[in-house]
Amino acid sequence: MAVVALKGGSGKTTVATHLALAAHLRGAPVLVADVDPQHSAHDLLDARSEPGPDCVKTTGAKLLAAQFAAGGLQKDLLVIDTAAGAVEDLGEAIVLADLVVMVVRPTLLDIAGLARTLSIVRRLGKPSTVVVNQAPVAREGAEAPVVRRALRALEYMQAPVAPAIVRARTIYQVALERGRSVEEMTDKAAAREVAALWEFVEARLAEASAAAARPA
Ligand SMILES: Nc1ncnc2c1ncn2[C@@H]1O[C@H](COP(=O)(O)OP(=O)(O)OP(=O)(O)O)[C@@H](O)[C@H]1O
Ligand SMILES: [Mg+2]
Repeated sequence: MAVVALKGGSGKTTVATHLALAAHLRGAPVLVADVDPQHSAHDLLDARSEPGPDCVKTTGAKLLAAQFAAGGLQKDLLVIDTAAGAVEDLGEAIVLADLVVMVVRPTLLDIAGLARTLSIVRRLGKPSTVVVNQAPVAREGAEAPVVRRALRALEYMQAPVAPAIVRARTIYQVALERGRSVEEMTDKAAAREVAALWEFVEARLAEASAAAARPA
């Protein structure tokens, strides 16, 4: 799975580490390949005191080696965290992935950035999903106007939006400071949204991997 967005700060690392931890917490052996020269995913997972996903610092050009290594280490899942703006690395990650996870905040600039990412993903013909991150919490079930507008724009772009929306919650930052998932913290609302996102992504990944394994 490649977690991508051309726009910086949308939440790639937060989503990538949470999906990797979700798989780990459910018993799957996971390798995270951190392609971002800032190595944020590596630093966050390194702060973890409990057993967790393995993480390697690498580059787009060396991703194929990381994918072989994941197979050799009997990993069920490889999660690639990419850097913003790095179009070449992005291309390498997308080519290798069975599923591309794009992350957007519900803002005009993020959605404009997504249009470019989406066109690359479509050109490469990869199954993909769009995760809306840092959305304000819905009040009494009603989405904030910014989220409604963003969802309308995404629908207009025919973007495959994940039904599980990730909300802006400080607990994501607090948990990751210790290399933990919000699923390991006491905030049940955050834990529920990550569990719902994992359930959706896992099903998409299973479909995409089965399709990738079928002869053309
Ligand atoms: N759902 C969320 N709730 C609260 N804070 C969040 C959430 N998602 C991300 N953040 C915060 O927003 C900032 C950017 O997130 P993150 O580092 O995951 O983005 P990124 O896309 O990986 O950034 P970069 O482009 O620099 O790699 C971080 O400070 C992170 O803690
Ligand atoms: Mg990042």
